[in-house]
Amino acid sequence: NNTGVLETFRPQFHFTPKSNWMNDPNGMVYYAGEYHLFYQYHPFGTTWGPMHWGHAVSKDLMSWEHLTIALAPDENGAIFSGSAVVDWNDTTGFFHGGSGLVAIFTHADLYPNSDRPRQRQSLAYSTDQGRTWIKYEGNPVLTEESITDFRDPKVFWHEKTNKWIMILAAGDHVRFYTSLNLKDWHFASEFGTESGSHAGVWECPDLFELPVDGDKFNSKWVMLVSIGNDPAYAEGSRTQYFIGDFNGITFTNENGDDTVLWLDHGRDNYAGVTWSDIPPEDGRRLFIGWMSNWRYANETPTEAWRSSMTLPRELTLCETSAGVRLFQTPVAEVETIRQEKHYWDCLTIAPEENILSDVMGDKLEIIAEMELHSSREFGFKIRKSEIEETVIGYNAVEETLFIDRVKSGVSYFNEDFPCRHGFSLKAKNNRVRLHLFVDSASVEVFVNDGELVLTDQIFPDPTSKGLELYTKDGKVKLISLTMFHLNFNHS
Ligand code: FRU
Repeated sequence: NNTGVLETFRPQFHFTPKSNWMNDPNGMVYYAGEYHLFYQYHPFGTTWGPMHWGHAVSKDLMSWEHLTIALAPDENGAIFSGSAVVDWNDTTGFFHGGSGLVAIFTHADLYPNSDRPRQRQSLAYSTDQGRTWIKYEGNPVLTEESITDFRDPKVFWHEKTNKWIMILAAGDHVRFYTSLNLKDWHFASEFGTESGSHAGVWECPDLFELPVDGDKFNSKWVMLVSIGNDPAYAEGSRTQYFIGDFNGITFTNENGDDTVLWLDHGRDNYAGVTWSDIPPEDGRRLFIGWMSNWRYANETPTEAWRSSMTLPRELTLCETSAGVRLFQTPVAEVETIRQEKHYWDCLTIAPEENILSDVMGDKLEIIAEMELHSSREFGFKIRKSEIEETVIGYNAVEETLFIDRVKSGVSYFNEDFPCRHGFSLKAKNNRVRLHLFVDSASVEVFVNDGELVLTDQIFPDPTSKGLELYTKDGKVKLISLTMFHLNFNHS
């Protein structure tokens, strides 16, 4: 991406590897003025294979520089997902009293003379801003022989107890360990066998504290848990979250065990976690997810590479009528790629009238506020041609917001891909606010200021650039509509 070179379906403002297979984002950390993004990477093919950590850096979260592979398989196995931290106080002794980066990841192989997976946690460190990595000679640093699925460590420094905390996935629950030096780990507690969704194996957890409505004297802890691809559910792999408290040892869920909170109601936001070590003067909790789904990730119709990441997003907690919920908004840096702008307001739109018939675009940001009138269903059709369209609509009768990607383009490569899916949404003061991002192979929909989100891949023909603001069986009021064409300024 961001090279100015066009390839079919190559996202233009979402991160993709230059070539070959990518899955989970890993080890995101901010250090010495750079956002690091590592990722599960198979450098020798466009399908999943022996895992490496690919690597890229950015100064602005939008434009990424590809770097060489950070971690490659070794005698302890392949390099599965994990995290990275800045060891500011040299608790590891790797940095001769200075600071540096430490990656904590899963080494994956098989038990000797067996086909049972073996997953153990290991360390690597870098003394040159992540350019080269040295694996710790004492690897692995954490093993639990009785647990088969035991992976994806996310580590952070817990101020109140002055310890490193590791949360990691163990099949149907997460486990917490503590450490003073990242090398010696002590079991603290576990959470989750009875809580939330178990529609798949638990993977890629994260845990962080956030103020509620910006009030730092009222903060809560958020746990993200991705759940694998259970064939019984059409949704495939998706991510849930919990809200509660964490005291350095145990996590307490403030909602009932049966409450399931989904991070995203689309099909393509998986294994996402947040950046470590964002400076306090910035203070944001920044997230990125893998914009694919294990249900069909290996089959998507791209050639030189496979998969992209979501836009980087900011996570916040807000009080809602249902309780405290996690909100997501695109990072403000996205505004730096805004180009030509269009604006409309105060219009009443009737069926068969398309105010966007003259506007074409395949890389767009659309910000709309609409008010219910007599319409049964209204919304946007994007990436439209005679035969293709992706619909982002609000059904005022069923009170559901949905994406329909059945006719979005190439969609029959897997039977679960072409679908319409959504969730119930009551209009607030009769209004619905949509914030959309359209790229070569995706649409991201932030509803009502990020209260609800839908992220979906689509594979429209590059020539499908039509747009429609539609309404069915009645009128809809357009309060305002702002649209930007998005692009980097290639010099
Ligand atoms: C999640 C996941 C992780 C694992 C990695 C392997 O997508 O299954 O649990 O570490 O992918 O590539």
